This record gives sequence, structure tokens and C-alpha cells, in this order.
Amino acid sequence: MKFFIDTANLAQIKEAHDLGVLDGVTTNPSLMAKEGIKGEANILKHYADICELVDGPISAEVLSTDFKSMVEEGKKLAAIHPNIVVKVPMIKDGVKALKYFTDNGIKTNCTLVFSAGQAILAAKAGATFVSPFIGRIDDSSWDGVELIAQIAQIYSIQGFKTEILAASIRNALHIVKCAEAGADICTCPLDSILGLLKHPLTDIGLAKFLEDAKKM
Ligand code: E4P
Repeated sequence: MKFFIDTANLAQIKEAHDLGVLDGVTTNPSLMAKEGIKGEANILKHYADICELVDGPISAEVLSTDFKSMVEEGKKLAAIHPNIVVKVPMIKDGVKALKYFTDNGIKTNCTLVFSAGQAILAAKAGATFVSPFIGRIDDSSWDGVELIAQIAQIYSIQGFKTEILAASIRNALHIVKCAEAGADICTCPLDSILGLLKHPLTDIGLAKFLEDAKKM
């Protein structure tokens, strides 16, 4: 399973990259706004800066909701760097845009996916990645990881090539459960990635080894 980091914060992207386990980056308009990135030129430059840091798929989301504008915007984003993946919402014009980008060799990430039916549509349109939002599903008292397992089973039976990118990850346990359920990728906040490191017996064991090392 690949690891993407889910942030537009350059310091956090660098920290995850320096750990040596980072395969890509996802952003969304909320994450870009959180970093104070405003205006088209600054937005495009920020994506270019992320591409300089990480050599892997970098998702950049379109802000328009009609087919024609999505295509224009997506082309502009894709022109920033060969690693840019155009992130498109799961709406009717979004599906048309996914198909357009697929036919024109532009990689896509279909976002805001909350059901197996939506994941089937994304795969039919040729999306490179599909992003089920598991944390938001859990927040609404459904089972996000169960959706990952269902999509993984459908894609395997049907031979769909779209990669399952588990998004809206809230903690390290989500990452483990998504790996078990068959996600191809998890996109995670830095805290969740670092959460995988934690085990009290590791800390206790290391403290004892270091104490005993003084007697060597
Ligand atoms: C990533 O592609 C998604 O936009 C992101 O994971 C959503 O996460 P959230 O539910 O924590 O906002």
C-alpha cells in the first residue's frame, strides 16, 4: 500500500518525505485555504512547490463544477508538472470531465466518493484514483472501512484498474484497517502516519536497552 500525505503544508510534506515512506500528496480547497494560499498564480506556484518536494502523484483539485470550466482548469493544472493529478468531484459534469481527461492522457483523482455506486462510475470513466472519504462516513455513523472493502471486492471482480485511495483518514488505526480492506493507497495527515510508530512497549524496551548499554 502506498502512502500519500493529505496536506498543503510544505513543512509537513517535507517531514513525511524525509521519513522515506512518502509516495505522493493530496490537497483540497480547504487544505489550500488553511495555508493561506490565495489567487490563481499563488495556487499554481504552490502546486509547483509541492512537485519540487515529492516525486510522485500530486492531486490538485478543480474549483469549478461545470464540464467546460473543469476541463479548462484541469488542463492548466496538468500543465504545471507531469506528476499533477487533476482532482474532480463525483458529480455529473465531473464524470464527463473524468472521461475527457482519461481520453486525453491526464491523470485524475475522483473525490467526494461515499458509495460503491459512485466508485463504479469513477472506474467506468477511467479515473486513475478514486477517493472514498472514510472518516466522514464514520462521522455520519456508517462504516468507512467497510466501503473500502466493498469497492476493493468490486474492482477485483470486475477488473477495474482505478486505484483505491482511502481518504479522510483520522488516525493510525484507519490506515491499518484500510490496508487490511484492500486500499491501494492511504492519504493521511502527518499525525496519522507518525501514529503508526507508537507503541508503549517499544518505548519501554528501548529505555531498558539504553540503560543496559551503559553496562556494556
Ligand atoms: C483527500 O483527498 C480528501 O480531500 C481529504 O482526505 C478529506 O479529509 P477530511 O474529511 O479530513 O476533510
